[in-house]
Amino acid sequence: MLKNLLVASLALLGTVHIASAHYISKATLTCPTGIKGSLLFDDPHKGYVAVTVEFTNLVADERYNYFIDDHAVPADGDCSKTGNLFDPTKKYKDPNNYSCTADKASKCAKGDLTGRGGVLVGKGIGQTTTLTWHDTQLALRGTNGINGKSVVIYNGSRKLILCANIEKVQ
Ligand SMILES: *[C@@H]1O[C@H](CO)[C@@H](O)[C@H](O)[C@H]1NC(C)=O
Ligand SMILES: *[C@@H]1O[C@H](CO)[C@@H](O)[C@H](O)[C@H]1NC(C)=O
Repeated sequence: MLKNLLVASLALLGTVHIASAHYISKATLTCPTGIKGSLLFDDPHKGYVAVTVEFTNLVADERYNYFIDDHAVPADGDCSKTGNLFDPTKKYKDPNNYSCTADKASKCAKGDLTGRGGVLVGKGIGQTTTLTWHDTQLALRGTNGINGKSVVIYNGSRKLILCANIEKVQ
């Protein structure tokens, strides 16, 4: 009897586990200057998306901003053709009166990753900068899901230097 119960509850656990498999998406970026990195978006279905930003060979002490734009990168690779900042809830109405921080995440445009995750600061050749946070404003799938959109990176001079598509991993 006990054994049967145990088997039954293990089977149930197995079902629950499968039903809650993480959704994962990724954007991988490389640049002729040697900068390379990725953004990993992992949704464990707990009310947030765990974001991991990892970049190598960024210029030492350079401060990079990174955002999600509305559209995928076109076939010609032109990062300037990815549309506007992803902002379906229209938080970025007035640029002079906009503030997005980790502790006021609900005031953020969904695409404003820098506001919630912090500026990406370079450490020089061979060095890696990593940022991680739990993002309450993102979803990978469904209405306002980020799959099929793109990540864009700006350097300290506000020049758009890199972009890549956010693609579904699982
Ligand atoms: C800035 O935004 C706040 C909150 O949305 C609003 O109350 C305030 O009037 C705005 N200020 C200006 C100068 O637009
Ligand atoms: C930012 O990128 C532009 C365009 O690639 C480049 O000319 C400029 O030197 C970069 N700025 C810095 C501080 O690296």
